Amino acid sequence: MSDTELNLARTGGHSVSRVLFSAEQIAQRVREIGAEITEAYPRDEELLVLGTLKGSFIFLSDLVRSINRPMEVDFLVASSYGSGTTSSGQVNLLYETPASIEGKHVVLVEDIVDSGTTLNRLIPLLRGRNIKSLEICALLHKHIATDLAQEPRWLGFDCPLEFVIGYGLDHSEFYRNLPFIGVIDP
Ligand code: IMP
Ligand code: MG
Repeated sequence: MSDTELNLARTGGHSVSRVLFSAEQIAQRVREIGAEITEAYPRDEELLVLGTLKGSFIFLSDLVRSINRPMEVDFLVASSYGSGTTSSGQVNLLYETPASIEGKHVVLVEDIVDSGTTLNRLIPLLRGRNIKSLEICALLHKHIATDLAQEPRWLGFDCPLEFVIGYGLDHSEFYRNLPFIGVIDP
């Protein structure tokens, strides 16, 4: 870990035990996914990229700048975590996009697929809105969700079974600003 990474990592009060994915690795992968999404849809059909707040905000902002075609961006706010590091199992939808999504290709952008509870709540909601297609784009996937309604078509990285922070992901709202993804000291 570089000095800068270490100093940044201390800002939340804990320390980061190791860097899983560096800023450079993430940037490279995001560019690849952006290029794939650019090619995946006919240019004359409408594309809406929907990010789940707050965790996906940095991934989403980098990703949309790597998508080279007309598109709209909006957000959903789903909250499944309190201040701890394990899922509460309950997902509350705090904000739903007012934009019309009917007839559009929707890419749902999630920061991390853990238990799958969040996606399993959002997927039926979106499918019920008369959209043209639905795909999932996740930055990280822990591969422990047993009954995921739909697997991500685009995935940044496989994630080890640890609590990770940075690049939008938080622990009790801290560490979202870290430019890399790391593992926190317990
Ligand atoms: P799921 O509903 O259990 O799949 O969890 C999804 C949400 O929980 C993600 O969008 C994250 O906001 C949060 N989450 C799950 N695992 C982690 C983690 O390791 N670090 C930070 N947030 C996480
Ligand atoms: Mg989230």
